[in-house]
Amino acid sequence: MLLKLSRLDVCIEAKKIVNGVDLSVGKGELHIIMGPNGSGKSTLLSAIMGLPRVRICGGTIVFNGIDITNMPSYERAKLGIALAHQHPPEIKGVKFNEIAKAIIKKCGCSDYSIMSKILKVDDLLHRDLFVGFSGGEKKRAELFLVMLQSPKLALLDEPDSGVDIESIESIANAIDYLVSRGSSVILVTHTGIITNKLSRINKVHIMMNGRFVYSGYPDEVLPIVMKFGYSKGVKMLAK
Ligand SMILES: Nc1ncnc2c1ncn2[C@@H]1O[C@H](COP(=O)(O)OP(=O)(O)O)[C@@H](O)[C@H]1O
Ligand SMILES: [Mg+2]
Repeated sequence: MLLKLSRLDVCIEAKKIVNGVDLSVGKGELHIIMGPNGSGKSTLLSAIMGLPRVRICGGTIVFNGIDITNMPSYERAKLGIALAHQHPPEIKGVKFNEIAKAIIKKCGCSDYSIMSKILKVDDLLHRDLFVGFSGGEKKRAELFLVMLQSPKLALLDEPDSGVDIESIESIANAIDYLVSRGSSVILVTHTGIITNKLSRINKVHIMMNGRFVYSGYPDEVLPIVMKFGYSKGVKMLAK
């Protein structure tokens, strides 16, 4: 097992946002977390990455056999965890291609041109990172930087939100490519639009009010929640 969350609680200040989440992700698996706005999806990804804005207030995170529950985010990054934010911040004065080159130099990955082709980022590389990028451009650029890191585990926070249909296609192709190279992926989406463009999903988890209320296989879960929504869909699935 690459990642194992056991009874994980995550707090922001004094408030418990994520409540008793269990999750096991194997190598090369793609897991989808779906759920309404405010259900705790971004908070959960932040906790797996170890971002200081959230605090793990119960349970454990084991990654590749190592207990990382109390490990700072830069050490988790070194172990191979990478996060693509829901809203990447604009970085003035730093060129996209400078960051990309620095990562390529470190990882030595030779297939960056395949990735840049899939994600159509060539025209963006000379610009300041994320500055003035459209929704789709931001998502494609950030996913490109995550892919360059060849992460063992990629955490993707709503890569399909605020994105046009063609960009969703590119993003889905990029995720398929990432998985085919052996990365595990946890993909958060609240619309679910991207799910029917991905070639192989291992599991779908529905998150509501900080809890995983249903986990199942995509063929079982997706048609129901996409048609009936989360509340009604989960009731039907649980019967
Ligand atoms: N700094 C904060 N203080 C208090 N509550 C917060 C803070 N940040 C986020 N929350 C709350 O945590 C809940 C989950 O947020 P989030 O993880 O962003 O949900 P999602 O990504 O599923 O939309 C929301 O109710 C949100 O208002
Ligand atoms: Mg979110």
